[in-house]
Amino acid sequence: MADLAGTAAALVAPGKGILAADESIGTMSARLTAAGAAPTRENRRAYRELLVTAPCLASAISGVILCDETFRQRLGDGRPFPAALAGLGLLTGIKVDAGAKPLPGAPGETVTEGLDGLAPRLAGYAELGAAFAKWRAVLRIGDGRPSRAAVRANAQALGRYAAACQQEGLVPVVEPEVLMDGPHSLAQCETVTALVLLEVMSELQDYGADLAGVVLKPNMAVPGSGCPEAAAPHQVAEATMAALGCVPATLAGVAFLSGGQPPERATRHLAALQGLPHVWPLTFSFGRALVDPALAAWRGDPACREAGQRALARRVALNAAALTGTYRDDLEREPALG
Ligand code: G3H
Repeated sequence: MADLAGTAAALVAPGKGILAADESIGTMSARLTAAGAAPTRENRRAYRELLVTAPCLASAISGVILCDETFRQRLGDGRPFPAALAGLGLLTGIKVDAGAKPLPGAPGETVTEGLDGLAPRLAGYAELGAAFAKWRAVLRIGDGRPSRAAVRANAQALGRYAAACQQEGLVPVVEPEVLMDGPHSLAQCETVTALVLLEVMSELQDYGADLAGVVLKPNMAVPGSGCPEAAAPHQVAEATMAALGCVPATLAGVAFLSGGQPPERATRHLAALQGLPHVWPLTFSFGRALVDPALAAWRGDPACREAGQRALARRVALNAAALTGTYRDDLEREPALG
């Protein structure tokens, strides 16, 4: 029987975070194009290989979340990604949702789909080496949103997904993301995030999920991208902790997403969060805030592969410093880092 609590504890082990490299084919292709690289299957593979083989990644990364395409691809040396990750001391995660789809009756809102046939899919991934899974729900703030229906539908799906994962021996990473898009204030984001998390916790309980084998991946409470008022890191940290007030101490851990925050800002906020009292292990599960500099440095050019890996190693080191209380702003200008 799978040791769910042990795997979850390993994912949020002190000083370690999770690398989210699970962009869908469409999203990854768009990001490659924007970076100047051709949006091919091979470039998506080569880019993910660059990321996971960055030297010493496992010193501060516990696991890597992949999408189905990468999960079934191989490194240049012929090893399938899950086997290669295991060899590098990293746990393999798999994104198992089918994406956010329009929610009937709730204009402009979505519910994340993918529950049909989920159990056998999870079993298949576990068989091929996955240790954990990820499901992302998306909630928007503004014009009466999120609606009660959207909050409930997404939380229910997360509860069912979490229960199915544990049944099949995978640790569920439960990701309810309140988007940063919009002019809303920090206080509005805190309120909505608290409401969403309360609903998610209630569904996890209703579906009998063992919280010791669950990692929560929430957004930080931040002002909307169009909000005229900026917030200091300590304000973001305090609002975020308040929003997480309903999250029980029995949860394996909390691993924040970056949600489109610039890398330095996400790291500063993580450091401020780590400095506040908390009852669960607290870490990061960043996508863009870890990999954007690496993609910009590589841009599809094989000659820039090492530069891409150095850029990733740098962000990983800075976020690890945030976790251990050693992050300072001037580290961002330290050339030797990474
Ligand atoms: O689904 C989104 C990823 O898991 C986290 O990505 O840190 O860029 O928001 P992000």
